[in-house]
Amino acid sequence: MSTAQPLNVGLLGLGVVGSAVAAGLLEGRGNLAGDGARPLVLKRALVRDAKKKRPVRLPARTLTTDPSAVLDDPDIDIIVEVMGGEQPACDYIARAIRSGKHVVTANKEVLCKRGDELLPMAERHGVRLLHEASVGGGIPIIGPLSSDLLANRISSIRAIINGTTNYILTKMAREGASFDDVLREAQKLGYAEADPSADVEGWDAAYKIAVLARVAFGASVPLDRVYREGIVSLQAQEFRYAATLGYTIKLLAAARRAGDGLLVRVHPALIPSDVPMAKVDGVLNVVEVEGDLVGPLWFQGRGAGPQATASAVFGDLLRIARGAEIRPHARTGRRGDKVKLAPMANHECKYYFRLVCKDRPGVLARIAGVLGRSKISIASVIQMDADAEKGEADLVIMTHPSLERSVQRAMKEISELPVVARVAAVLRVEGY
Ligand code: NAP
Ligand code: HSE
Repeated sequence: MSTAQPLNVGLLGLGVVGSAVAAGLLEGRGNLAGDGARPLVLKRALVRDAKKKRPVRLPARTLTTDPSAVLDDPDIDIIVEVMGGEQPACDYIARAIRSGKHVVTANKEVLCKRGDELLPMAERHGVRLLHEASVGGGIPIIGPLSSDLLANRISSIRAIINGTTNYILTKMAREGASFDDVLREAQKLGYAEADPSADVEGWDAAYKIAVLARVAFGASVPLDRVYREGIVSLQAQEFRYAATLGYTIKLLAAARRAGDGLLVRVHPALIPSDVPMAKVDGVLNVVEVEGDLVGPLWFQGRGAGPQATASAVFGDLLRIARGAEIRPHARTGRRGDKVKLAPMANHECKYYFRLVCKDRPGVLARIAGVLGRSKISIASVIQMDADAEKGEADLVIMTHPSLERSVQRAMKEISELPVVARVAAVLRVEGY
């Protein structure tokens, strides 16, 4: 038993993650920092509704609905923010920092949108703002990027960092089910939230890749500079056709040095079925990092859930208890180089197109003409399902590496051809 003076913890939020952190503190995980470290003790927990039934039983007078009872308590040393959302979380974090409290947060939205002001604020006040749980749930990724890998020049991060969409895409691929049906099932099982828009429209992954880009590249990435496409418009056919061609579909989040800029993007991508990323299924997450000294690294694990996320929160809490020197934004401070962001228009990769076309002679020639004029080279064309009644067929075209800007221009022109009923899908193929 440690004789060191305890560090008092104030929790902001006692939901999925907060309850697991509280339970961990009550069962003594706050004593695990080792000899000489200060033990962690739960002092207060802020909630909206004090009458709600919780999975954890707190000692009397721990629960409060008054933010000041936590934020203004001079005996509280560390705030754990697990409320979520930009506000009031951001204001509460800033208030805690200004009053000299360390902060541990799982909140990727605040880190993405307000990290550029909060992280330097913590430096100025001599406290820590740690956020291992903000990306990849239980996967240790912020810590390795900001300490063990500090000597590396990181060239690329590619990740699956949204469990909800990975669960949906895995089910669509395995069962040939529609997006709406799988989403409904995911909501029933508690994987997807009642309002799933942040996940399925790619916002959650965009917050997380922006947070990773700050840590790995020292880049300040405003949310509107993350190219973002969600998974809502993916159709069951794409999974079947992609499988026939040797691919699987994942919501990819990537940040990669391209020329003299950094391109940060989130979109569904065709991944070759024989590479490890194609096999990261269900709610699992993965982050693939490429450093100049270390080479490729692979971090895989549970990207969400109470226990896994609490593991990451405890990692940060115990670092503070040990007095460990760690800054999750060290690259920005150390190198001071401003990273230029590259536009998506410059992205180059192979593409998959599905065009619903009139099933008659001469159609392919018209489409090939537009692609040729746009300098897009065709690698293969396959006619898939046909609808004899409508006289239409699915034409699936795979290209050689092409520029995004040319593809967008060509697709507009192709969608206006009288022989094309619609451009049903334009998907990027990730290169390995
Ligand atoms: P949650 O279950 O919805 O819990 C949120 C908690 O915050 C609730 O206890 C709620 O109080 C409290 N709260 C919210 N707004 C408040 C306000 N204005 N004043 C006082 N209390 C307030 O959320 P969660 O799933 O635990 O997620 C928490 C954070 O962790 C989010 O930033 C999330 O993105 C992140 N995260 C979650 C996971 C995961 O697996 N769930 C994984 C990684 C990161 P009531 O209970 O009274 O409503
Ligand atoms: N909604 C997130 C996901 C939770 O599905 O991955 C973890 O941040």
